[in-house]
Amino acid sequence: MQLLLAGASGGIGLAMLRQLLGEARWKRIYALYRRPSQALEALAREEPRLHLLQVDLSSDGDLEALPGKLEGPLNWVINTSGLLHDSERGMQPEKSLQQLNRDDLMAGFEVNAINHLLLLKALEPLLAKRDTLKVASLSARVGSIGDNRLGAGTAIVRARRRSTS
Ligand SMILES: NC(=O)c1ccc[n+]([C@@H]2O[C@H](COP(=O)([O-])OP(=O)(O)OC[C@H]3O[C@@H](n4cnc5c(N)ncnc54)[C@H](OP(=O)(O)O)[C@@H]3O)[C@@H](O)[C@H]2O)c1
Repeated sequence: MQLLLAGASGGIGLAMLRQLLGEARWKRIYALYRRPSQALEALAREEPRLHLLQVDLSSDGDLEALPGKLEGPLNWVINTSGLLHDSERGMQPEKSLQQLNRDDLMAGFEVNAINHLLLLKALEPLLAKRDTLKVASLSARVGSIGDNRLGAGTAIVRARRRSTS
């Protein structure tokens, strides 16, 4: 069984990777990261089943080159890459309509939605066809349209309802 985990340098990604490496069923684990991480490099030195690949999921060139670096089939694909805030560009979770701006919205959609789909497009030829195949992409509860009683998105809608009633 082979697994690919994207966002491996992030908080959740690294924690999941450590957990998954404890399972003997994985013959090989590909871990995708963007910015180098000492914690990931230390894990890879100890664990021959772990293969690190530097991939910017927002780069079409990186995605096109990715299948050539993998040996399929992949049985599990987990994508924990995401963007909620970015101190370098002053991006914070918005709490009101007035805090929205085009650049941050576009960046959020790109990292949290578009990149997840384009990663699967790139991996499609390598996905297991006859054996187990599981694909998971992490989101956030505030992104749920079925269960969204918490979070800023709901607060914005409630505030708008109050102002129009
Ligand atoms: N932490 C929570 O409590 C929580 C709760 C609910 C949902 N979530 C969701 O779970 C996901 C992971 O959360 P987290 O706390 O682990 O976040 P995190 O620590 O910020 O990790 C996000 C990861 O995504 C990677 N990433 C962002 N843009 C990328 C790109 N263009 N190409 C490749 N990698 C990219 C980052 O890589 P770099 O290191 O290179 O930036 C980082 O490793 C997010 O979608 C988040 O919204 C988290």
